[in-house]
Amino acid sequence: MSNKIKRIGVLTSGGDAPGMNAAIRSVVRKAVLEGMEVRGILRGYEGLINDEMIEMNSRSVSNILSRGGTILKTARSGEFMTKEGQEKAVNVIKKNGIDALVIIGGNGSFQGALTLHRDWGITNIGVPGTIDNDLGHTDYTVGAHTAVDTVLDAVDKIRDTVCSMERIYVIEVMGREEPYIAVMAGLAGGAEEVLYPGSKTTIKEIGIEVEKAKEKGKRSWIIIVSEGYASAHEIVDKLKKEIQCDVRGITLGHIQRGGSPNAPDRILASGMGAYAVSALLEGHSGEMVGIKGSTFRLVPYEKACFERGGDIERNTQLYKLTRLLAT
Ligand code: F6P
Repeated sequence: MSNKIKRIGVLTSGGDAPGMNAAIRSVVRKAVLEGMEVRGILRGYEGLINDEMIEMNSRSVSNILSRGGTILKTARSGEFMTKEGQEKAVNVIKKNGIDALVIIGGNGSFQGALTLHRDWGITNIGVPGTIDNDLGHTDYTVGAHTAVDTVLDAVDKIRDTVCSMERIYVIEVMGREEPYIAVMAGLAGGAEEVLYPGSKTTIKEIGIEVEKAKEKGKRSWIIIVSEGYASAHEIVDKLKKEIQCDVRGITLGHIQRGGSPNAPDRILASGMGAYAVSALLEGHSGEMVGIKGSTFRLVPYEKACFERGGDIERNTQLYKLTRLLAT
């Protein structure tokens, strides 16, 4: 064990994701087992700037494995983007005798973590926690599996009524520019169409297809649209101009971020949290824990944040299959 790291701080930052608590539990318990002290930093970088800290031990993380959200609270901090805010945060880290941080968050959080590592010399390792699954060089981020399950549950329910009333339904899902949730829920939910950034299909083409399908007896459709492409509202408006059908839309919104993490997310979070602590002990900093296949590994923040979109091929393949099966 490195002698240098005696006290670590752990924080969650950005949009909450199911499994963040499982990651906190793993970080805290692994660190305590390694003989370290742990400070929980509340409200992400905002709380770091404002010196909002709690002492944590193994009991502080009892019974949180199955809970959604984050017991440490989270925020998107505008102040931390400024040099002054960063300086305040660094002073708080030093004042509290914190030797290293574990940062649980997504893309924006890791750009902040990179700044802390590169510009301010603050040792830190990241655990990817975001429903968007939009970080590079990792197959998954904590929360993405559960978000897909949540969307799927909604799609299945909507299908019951769509099917019964023979309607066209547009379901908008989250994911920013990354189509992961849309594409996965599209295939798993048997959607007739999935629209995501980069989609080539036009609304006119969908209209023609809906009319043709109607002639063959297919009278209900589910179209999943990723928020990075358009809103459900926009697609509904455009489609109504193309077809004579009852078209409805829904934006699933923040229900996609809530709920108890499913088994894959609990397992991923538990593995990544402990791995992050081990990485700190081995002297690493400026990297995120990623997973490829079933192997954990470290990914430099630059690659995680700026080399994304590696799964375009997978998304295209799954999209084509979704369309093929939706006949
Ligand atoms: O990054 C997670 C996420 O849920 C995105 O999918 C979404 O675009 C965004 O956060 C919403 O953020 P907020 O809750 O701040 O509106």
